[in-house]
Amino acid sequence: MNLILIGFMGSGKTTVGQLLAQTLGYTFADTDQLIEAGEEMTISEIFAQNGEGYFRQLETLIMEEISHTMQNAVLSVGGGLPMTENNHKYFKKIGKVIYLKVSEQTVINRLRGDSGRPLLSGDDATEMIYRLLSQRHPTYQMLADMVIDTNDLQPEEVVNEIIRMIDETEEGSE
Ligand code: S3P
Repeated sequence: MNLILIGFMGSGKTTVGQLLAQTLGYTFADTDQLIEAGEEMTISEIFAQNGEGYFRQLETLIMEEISHTMQNAVLSVGGGLPMTENNHKYFKKIGKVIYLKVSEQTVINRLRGDSGRPLLSGDDATEMIYRLLSQRHPTYQMLADMVIDTNDLQPEEVVNEIIRMIDETEEGSE
């Protein structure tokens, strides 16, 4: 079994994913980290040099690769990856999808001063957060097997909640 974490930038996918993997004894992978390692560039450099379209193609290539190789792992995916419809088939193939839900205000608070997200690097970052989050939320929701509101939770609490929900699902299917 694999678990996939989806959600907006700043929803805690990477932090929670690492902790969740550690707790379950699973391996951890993150699409942004795999892309950066493969390209030997940061996400910001890839956007600046090759553009967003190129980055989105890399996301799909990585998902294709992962869908053949992942086992007993937690995968955290970039916030925009679920918006490419072509990637949806990989989610189903890889495992259970967990949506870490956050409000616009939480994203603004958590990402204040962050310079690693090219989509939020302009003067209109707040407007972008509102626009992108409302555009993306229905897709995140649609893909999710489980949804967790993480606004008031620490990463450890999110992990406990995920494990509780998985146990509940498994008990229900026995
Ligand atoms: C993006 C989210 C980022 C990264 C890239 C684009 C997006 O990942 O993939 O900057 O479109 O939301 P995180 O969600 O891990 O910040």
